[in-house]
Amino acid sequence: MAMAGPQTSFLLSVVVIILSVASTTSVSLKVGFYKSTCPSAEAIVSKAVNKAISTNPGIAAGLIRMHFHDCFVRGCDGSVLIESTPGNIAERDHPANNPSLRGFEVIEEAKAEIEAVCPQTVSCADIVAFAARDSVYKAGGINYQVPSGRRDGRVSLKDNIPNNLPPPSFNAMQLVDLFARKGLSVDEMVTLSGAHSIGVSHCSAFSDRLYSFNSTHPQDPSMDPTFVELLKTKCPPPTNNGGFSDPTVALDSSTPNRLDNKYYSGLKNHHGLLTSDQTLYGSMLTRQRVANNAKDGSTWAYKFVKAMVHMGSIEVLSGSQGEIRKRCGAINN
Ligand code: HEM
Ligand SMILES: *[C@@H]1O[C@H](CO)[C@@H](O)[C@H](O)[C@H]1NC(C)=O
Repeated sequence: MAMAGPQTSFLLSVVVIILSVASTTSVSLKVGFYKSTCPSAEAIVSKAVNKAISTNPGIAAGLIRMHFHDCFVRGCDGSVLIESTPGNIAERDHPANNPSLRGFEVIEEAKAEIEAVCPQTVSCADIVAFAARDSVYKAGGINYQVPSGRRDGRVSLKDNIPNNLPPPSFNAMQLVDLFARKGLSVDEMVTLSGAHSIGVSHCSAFSDRLYSFNSTHPQDPSMDPTFVELLKTKCPPPTNNGGFSDPTVALDSSTPNRLDNKYYSGLKNHHGLLTSDQTLYGSMLTRQRVANNAKDGSTWAYKFVKAMVHMGSIEVLSGSQGEIRKRCGAINN
């Protein structure tokens, strides 16, 4: 009896520690989740992703961005993949995703091949996470393991986008606040922005910086004027394009298809394409982190994959929550 008190409080503190770990990190996901239920799952995804990127290197950028857009809106639950139906406009059809988000067909192809060998076992949310990992490897030679076991959500709403995805006009403070709401630190936000070392942006996401910055400065003074002139040759003024033409430009013009830390050197040279890129060097909240990442590519790469795994655990569904979709574009009947 004399031992009951201390034992009870020891057990209680173990429970408290387990609960607090569960609330801050995701104990439900684990590396190799499909090892016994669908051992070929990750290899099938890699094969589909590598094939697609070999044909079109831009797909790597699309798939990395897709994981980000999935995780920030209702958690990493594959909601970004759901197609609109007559009664519902889905995330996919918000202007933040349509027409710019790419790679949907790669996910659907991998899903079809997986369904053929292990029906209703592997979630679409996990396929997106695996595909992002394979894209990071293919575009940057950076390898990491992806904890899995996510379940697919049954809801996708266009109206969930504005409060959850950052627009390209955000400043450093706004980015820090939004990422904090997702449980991501200032350093993780700066580190993940390094994904903009590959892929493209439509001119419409930054053309105000070239032509209509404010009433006294037509051009954004935080952008290198020579770079502004170059971009103007690629992006017609908004008034002349009649809304019909919206070309794309590389986010990182130095190494557009290589996932590396050159993006941060670009920011130091005032070559950030989006306001949300250049603000990371302009703001004292984040400037030193940009300089550190520009200097040390291997530390950036290490932090990048750690932050990708952390991002991949945002508000995941597990256990009996949600479902395993049969096709990624639609919820099960
Ligand atoms: C920090 C806040 C962020 C903002 C405001 C932002 C905004 C944007 C915008 C406006 C585009 C161009 C879309 C277009 O017009 O075609 C873009 C592209 C892209 N974003 Fe972000 N993004 C952010 C963070 C991230 C993160 C965290 C990732 C991934 C870890 C990411 C990955 C990408 C990639 C890879 C592309 C190129 C996509 C392609 O070429 O298909 N972004 N982003
Ligand atoms: C326009 O932007 C510049 C540079 O950021 C700033 O100095 C100036 O005050 C702004 N003008 C107006 C009218 O907001």
